[in-house]
Amino acid sequence: MAEPKTGELMEKIVSLCKRRGFIFQSSEIYGGLNGFWDYGPLGAELKRNIKECWWRSMTQLREDVVGLDASIIMHPKIWEASGHTSTFSDLMVDCLLTKKRFRADQIEPQSGTAYFYTGASDGQGSKECQDAFSVLIATGKHAEYARKVARQFYQERGLENPALQSERTDELKNTTRYNPENGSLLTEPRPFNLMLKTYVGPVESADNISYLRPETAQAIFVQFKNTLEVSRQRVPFGICQIGKAFRNEINPRNFTFRSREFEQMELEFFIRPDEVVQKMAGSVASLSDPQPAILNPQPSWGWELWHKYWVEQRINWYESIGLGRETLVEYWQKKEELAHYAKATVDILFKFPFGTQELEGIAARGDFDLTQHQKFSGKSMEYFDEEAKAKYVPHVIEPSAGVDRLALALICNAYCEDQAPDEKGKLESRVVMRFHPRVAPIKVAVFPLLKNKPELVKKAKTVRDLLRPHMSVFYDEAGAIGRRYRRQDEAGTPFGVTIDFETLGEQGPALQDTVTLRDRDTMKQERVRINELVSMLLERIR
Ligand code: GAP
Repeated sequence: MAEPKTGELMEKIVSLCKRRGFIFQSSEIYGGLNGFWDYGPLGAELKRNIKECWWRSMTQLREDVVGLDASIIMHPKIWEASGHTSTFSDLMVDCLLTKKRFRADQIEPQSGTAYFYTGASDGQGSKECQDAFSVLIATGKHAEYARKVARQFYQERGLENPALQSERTDELKNTTRYNPENGSLLTEPRPFNLMLKTYVGPVESADNISYLRPETAQAIFVQFKNTLEVSRQRVPFGICQIGKAFRNEINPRNFTFRSREFEQMELEFFIRPDEVVQKMAGSVASLSDPQPAILNPQPSWGWELWHKYWVEQRINWYESIGLGRETLVEYWQKKEELAHYAKATVDILFKFPFGTQELEGIAARGDFDLTQHQKFSGKSMEYFDEEAKAKYVPHVIEPSAGVDRLALALICNAYCEDQAPDEKGKLESRVVMRFHPRVAPIKVAVFPLLKNKPELVKKAKTVRDLLRPHMSVFYDEAGAIGRRYRRQDEAGTPFGVTIDFETLGEQGPALQDTVTLRDRDTMKQERVRINELVSMLLERIR
């Protein structure tokens, strides 16, 4: 079957998300709210599964990571210490004509003829506007187009019938100073802080301003000491958290990819500074040394090796939930791209239909955050390392992933159109969401072959109740069995169990209490004993 084109594919995915209840536009009946999304029944299950898999692999299956669940609104000083109050901003530009706002770095460079005006006066010359303005149009396009846009600009400034003053033209190459949608000049870029503000308490005063956290990480740093004391961990160890984060993004886009409210899954992994490792181990292992295995932490590891270790861990995890290495790109940020606190950052990118884009960032943050909080709070963030007999502020490796971006990546990765036989064996096209069973919203669907046979319905409900304590089950008796399979294929349910007359023993005792187990991807069916179903399915979905 021919692959759908990129834009077309994304349209199909967005439409399936709504139709099947993965993702809805927030506040849809009021026209929606840009940058906010709601997850329907299947989407909510998918997100829960993502978070559970992450939590399990990051904390429960490890000795050296514990969890935290902190408040969304925290002391505003935290954001001063972290640098968010002063530097967490994007450069934005406004269209001088429509006031539409863009991120400056998202304006595509354009070339063409720019028409400049020093101002305009109205028809009788009684009114004037001295604001300079310019319009960019494609070379060769009629000048009247530029003049029309310029007249609109001066009309907005109160001139009824503007006569344009001192028209001059210039050929421009690769400029980002004009609105690509209408050619109007943009404002100079200015910083726009992305934190969402609110007031805590009954008085809306400057003293009561607080912020909805723009990342979950800072709570981990400020709770470093408390968590260390109660968890009896020793460096190297980590604290992780899953939770909501908010950013007043200038241009939310690509469906849920860049939202204003989203969830993060972050780990802050605290390690010894390289000087301490050097003292203890005699030398600090380097990335260029031959390594026994990056999966096996060593006392000689400094930040470089720990960083590489977490990159590997995270890529392996993505593979374990169905994103193959061929769908991912490991991007090492260049020096000039690094955030002010980072010694190195690796972005794990996913090949979305709209481009290869970031899923997760893994940053080596040094001791920046703990040192800042020590300075701003006046509380020591030092750790006494018994083994090293040294006191220091630990350094940090931070793998930081987005739940919503990952949900979108899994949905894009799962979407597939292929052919399946209908009731009469004729091939028809089907949409199938090939989720890895670990993250699939529903693990198994249970169907009585026919709805109007009470014995089949009764037995199917018994099987449903047998499976329910162990996994998410969907029971469906409505419509032809082929149609029911198709519905579950679209929901991404990896297994289907059908209760038929053989189950009831009508073909002899050998098949009694057996069911057919259908595999979503191969569409193959096998005969399985009911009393073996739970263990067989658990093995396949874990
Ligand atoms: N503590 C580090 C930090 O927050 P980040 O690269 O800004 O780093 C980490 O964010 C991850 O959070 C991103 O890789 C992405 O998955 C997710 N994320 C960030 N901004 C987002 C947005 N506006 N919408 C959806 N997910 C976002």
